Amino acid sequence: MNDKNNKIPFNEDNYTHNINRNNERKLDRRGFMKNLVGAAGVFAVSSLPWGALAAKELNGLSEKEYPHQKIIDVSSIAIGDSVDFKFPGEHDDAILIRLSEEKYVAYQNACTHLRCPVFWVKEKNEMVCPCHHGKFDVKTGEPTAGPPRRPLPEIQVKVENGAVYAVKVKRYEA
Ligand code: FES
Repeated sequence: MNDKNNKIPFNEDNYTHNINRNNERKLDRRGFMKNLVGAAGVFAVSSLPWGALAAKELNGLSEKEYPHQKIIDVSSIAIGDSVDFKFPGEHDDAILIRLSEEKYVAYQNACTHLRCPVFWVKEKNEMVCPCHHGKFDVKTGEPTAGPPRRPLPEIQVKVENGAVYAVKVKRYEA
């Protein structure tokens, strides 16, 4: 008897629960489709200018000279060390790395995947983007691991009067 009393409400509950679940599923599916259509619309709109930009970027890097800018005194950066600076604009993050007595390399250090900052990891002798484990060859800026497909834009530097100057940028055409 007790068993029976216990079973009926349980089954009813289960039954209404299932109806509700089915309704929820329908609603979910409708909501999902609606969102999907909305997302597709947003994507189509937002991808228009970026698609055009991406196509232009395939043209590659173009070289442009800017007013020379002092980065650091040679005596202030040891071999193997790096220093951050801005070039050519005040919001353009860049990194200078001293590879040897004479050899310096510099790049705009916004990752070419999704623009996270790229860091120089001296101990591993590589440039690393922590966002998705992107890596770049320090000598060329070419991507060596992870999602980035394009090299870091290189900044040409020169050493003059005991200091390192930024001179040119190889930028992606926009
Ligand atoms: S943003 Fe650098 S790897 Fe994704």
